[in-house]
Amino acid sequence: MIVPEIEAIKILNSGEVAAVPTETVYGLAGLIDHPEALQKIFKVKARPFFDPLIVHVADLDQAKTLFLNFSKPLHALAQKFWPGPLTLVAAKAPQVSDLITSSLPTVAVRSPRHPIALNILKATGPFAAPSANRFGKTSPTMASHVLEEFGGKVPVVDGGASEIGIESTVVEVTEEAFKILRPGQITEKDLKPIADQFGLKISEGLAAPNSPGQLKHHYQPDVPLVWVKANPDREKILSLLSKPSAKFVELKLSNEPAIAARLLYSELRELSRDPANIILFEPDRFPWSRVSKDLLDRLSKAATLKL
Ligand code: TXA
Ligand code: MG
Repeated sequence: MIVPEIEAIKILNSGEVAAVPTETVYGLAGLIDHPEALQKIFKVKARPFFDPLIVHVADLDQAKTLFLNFSKPLHALAQKFWPGPLTLVAAKAPQVSDLITSSLPTVAVRSPRHPIALNILKATGPFAAPSANRFGKTSPTMASHVLEEFGGKVPVVDGGASEIGIESTVVEVTEEAFKILRPGQITEKDLKPIADQFGLKISEGLAAPNSPGQLKHHYQPDVPLVWVKANPDREKILSLLSKPSAKFVELKLSNEPAIAARLLYSELRELSRDPANIILFEPDRFPWSRVSKDLLDRLSKAATLKL
């Protein structure tokens, strides 16, 4: 059901979960000092416990209680990019629950830019929130998507369509480097001035095993998405997918990367409504396909097949 912001605050304070809008995607929130809420997040999403959660904060002060040491580079990144689509990973403070971090020694933290999320955070204190979708599936960018995902059972605050549309950039901050664990709207180029200021390298930690945003398949729509070159062999696709017949539909996205990102997940959901569909994505059609690592990462993992 759709609930007003004030009701979501009450629900969260009572140790229950609620979905809230952010500028990236909708999140399924539970307060970090309510273990029953954290457990419920995993249960509702059918998410494995080895996949750690991002803690959301209203501001730097709330974040200070979560990191073991709010190092200067960490502080500089938070100062520059928060509130916004950047998640920072660093050594956790002892009181941060293993349920949040999957027993990792680090914690992931971000301050979202959506006014509703910020209002709720100011009232409740930090909440953990993964994207509000069933595990491995397409993230929600509208309140109606969340209602669909969980059969209307999870209360949702409607904050309109998410402005960015794909998940935050995840960066682990170590003593040597900024490791990009998940690409997003904030890119290596944006991070570089701060890395340079502290003499740190920037690396891609995409191969690291501990971040299931890094699993090979993720973000999957309910029908197959096939990554193709021009004029794909449709008979071959049917045979590889073991489908006798299907309707091929093309994934049409904007040539503007920001607009393509904003609409990506809604498009995938729309094209998944007919279970007979097979979605074809031809990256070469889009001018951003050589540069937009974030879009390619999501589409690559959403793809059942790559030809
Ligand atoms: O934009 C976003 O980040 C959205 C909104 C709701 O804020 N949230 C989101 O959460 O995408 P989720 O759970 O779907 O993705 C969190 C990612 C996962 O890939 C997870 O493995 C990684 O962050 N992560 C969390 N804690 C980590 C840690 N300590 N070390 C490495 N990766 C971590
Ligand atoms: Mg997710």
